[in-house]
Formats: sequence, structure tokens, C-alpha cells
Amino acid sequence: MTAAVSRSGTRVERLPLSRFTTLGVGGEAEVWFVTSHDALAEAMERPYRILGGGSNLVIADAGVPERVLRLSGPLAERDLTPDPLLSTPARVVTGWVGGGVPLPGLVRQLQKLGLSGLEGTVGIPAQVGGAVWMNAGTRYGEMFDGLHTIELVTPEGTRQVTPDDLPWGYRQSGIPRNHVVSRVRLALTVSTPDAVLAKMDFADQARRGQPKMKTPGCAFKNPGGVSAGQLIDEAGLKGTRIGNALIAPEHANFIVNLGGATAADVHALLDTVRARVKVPLELEYELWPGQAEP
Ligand code: FAD
Ligand code: EPU
Repeated sequence: MTAAVSRSGTRVERLPLSRFTTLGVGGEAEVWFVTSHDALAEAMERPYRILGGGSNLVIADAGVPERVLRLSGPLAERDLTPDPLLSTPARVVTGWVGGGVPLPGLVRQLQKLGLSGLEGTVGIPAQVGGAVWMNAGTRYGEMFDGLHTIELVTPEGTRQVTPDDLPWGYRQSGIPRNHVVSRVRLALTVSTPDAVLAKMDFADQARRGQPKMKTPGCAFKNPGGVSAGQLIDEAGLKGTRIGNALIAPEHANFIVNLGGATAADVHALLDTVRARVKVPLELEYELWPGQAEP
């Protein structure tokens, strides 16, 4: 299908999802480039999924049958102007930041402004909406450290919540699946560019041992604070290869695409890890179309 334009003026195109994922795997789907709340409402009239930075996804080689929504235009723009009614000399509450904004650029921009709160998420190649949905983070900080308001869109309408309204925790926000994080307002502590940079650099050190190849990040959550990577490593699985997917020699909780890997290769590696590691491991990746654990 060549690009079409929907009733609300949304560009709709059938595209390989591998183009949108950091693993570089995923077959075709109908991608809706939504730029407004009206466009979201129209796109949600049929079954849909929401795609962020594609940095936590293993998408089937056959693609997915649902519409895939990608936040674009104004929903990928940011207004970091302090809200005069909500900000104080010590704390800035920003204007709206679109769910489609790439997180790395936002984190760099906040550092230059000397605003502290999200620097612990440095190096996470997500979009703001996806990072909020997962409460992405590191041991130096997570998304919910810097949120004031979250706007959620569903087929039933739009509502705003605060972090206090949600049961968020390690790698979870409590936001139900397919509630679209359309925009957020950030709450940040006033600091200095140098102080924020120092914290960012510190958090970034922890990434030195992570592989640089195509990957969706860590495959499994850390069980009870223990590094899943260490457990997989101790099971002797570093360097295990199935097809063109490999358990990274640098860090055992990363699966990398050597070039031409398929979703089936990655699933087979996940099964191998589960069979060999004695501690039950919960998947961090999301598998499309199935949400069933491998
Ligand atoms: P996607 O991968 O596109 O989607 C993931 C889920 O979020 C899907 O359910 C999707 O539907 C949902 N989603 C996406 N956008 C929205 C939205 N706007 N509204 C509602 N739901 C949405 N994660 C960490 O936590 N810490 C790390 O240190 C870390 N390091 C990483 C390093 C690398 C090199 C890579 C590739 C990944 C890393 N990750 C890390 C994993 C990943 O970046 C996070 O899980 C991130 O939250 C995924 O966000 P995304 O925008 O890419 O979402
Ligand atoms: N370790 C090993 N072998 C390995 C990997 C790790 O022995 O193959 C050991 C390390 O030597 C270290 C310990 O395990 O002693 C912890 O390792 P690391 O510092 O790499 O942290 P992690 O717990 O494995 C977590 C997050 C990462 C995040 C880093 C840095 C999870 C599942 N992983 O990894 O997040 O970037 O800390 O803060 O929470 C992600 O979620 O996708 C992700 C990359």
C-alpha cells in the first residue's frame, strides 16, 4: 500500500516495523502517523497498538494485524517553558511534552537548562510515552522521578493523572496496555548544567559494558534486585547463538542481532535462557503480536 490519508488527515502507510525497532526485526503493519487528538480518536476506532521508540520490542516476522500508532507532529514536540502558576524558584513544572519526543534529546536539553530529574535515564533510546509506560530507568533514576501530569488517551476519551494516581514501580507504570501516553508535564528540580552533567556522566558509566549492536536492551527484568545478566552469565550462556541472534558476550541480558536475525531466533534464545537459569525470570521485552511469555 502506498501512503494514504485518512478522514482526519492522518498519513497511513503499510511499512516494515523492523524500520522502527532497535533490534531491526519485525514484519509489516499499517502505520498511522497520528499528529493530534482527533487523529488518535480516529485511529482508535479499530484495534490498535502503540509504537514508541521500538526499543523494547520483538515483533514477529509476519508483522501485526492491528493498526500501529506512531505519535508524530505536535505529539512529538516539547514545550519546556516553566508554568508560572505551578513552578517555584526551586522547582520547574514544564508545559506539555509529547509522548513521541525522543527521550535522549530531551535529557540532553534538560541538562543544558540545568534542570534535574531525568538524568538517570541517560542512554535509554525510548520515546517519552514508551519510557513513561514502562517507567524506564536505571539504578540512578527513572521516568517517574520527573513527572507532574500524564495525559492518557483511550477510545473512551482523554484524562489526566498524576504519578500518585498510579501503582508505579520498577519497570512498570501501572498504566493499562493501549492507554496512549499522549503528553506529559515534567516536574524538575532547579540545578545547574554542570551538576546535572556530572550525574548524567555517572549514570552513563554503567553502560560501558553494554553491547553496541542492534538490540532491544535487557531481555529480562532483574529478579528481586539480582542482575538477570549475572544469572544468565553464570549459566554459561554468553555467546550462545541461534540463527543470527546472539546472547551478547559483553552482557548476558542483552540479545543482539548479528544481521538478518528473525523474531523466531530471539524467541528460541529466550526459551534457552529460561530452560537453563534456575531462577524464574520475567520478560522485560514485549513480544508482538503475542503477549504470552515464551
Ligand atoms: P516501545 O519499545 O516502542 O514500546 C514498548 C511498550 O511501550 C509497548 O507496550 C508500547 O505499546 C508502549 N508504548 C510506547 N509508546 C507509548 C505511548 N506513547 N503510550 C503508551 N504506551 C506506549 N530500559 C530501561 O528501563 N533502562 C535502561 O537502562 C535501558 N537501556 C536500554 C538500552 C538499549 C541499547 C536499548 C535498545 C533499550 C534499553 N532499554 C532500557 C529498554 C527500552 O528503552 C525501554 O523499555 C523503553 O521504555 C521502551 O520505550 P519505547 O518508547 O522504545 O517503547
Ligand atoms: N553481570 C555479570 N555478567 C553479565 C552482566 C552483568 O556478571 O553478563 C554483573 C556485573 O558484573 C555487575 C552486576 O551483574 O556486578 C550488575 O550488572 P549491570 O551494572 O550491567 O546492571 P544490570 O542489573 O545487569 C541494569 C538494568 C539496565 C541498566 C543497567 C545500568 C535491568 C534488567 N537492567 O542492568 O537496564 O541499563 O542496570 O543501570 O534492570 C534495560 O532495562 O533494558 C536495561 C538495559
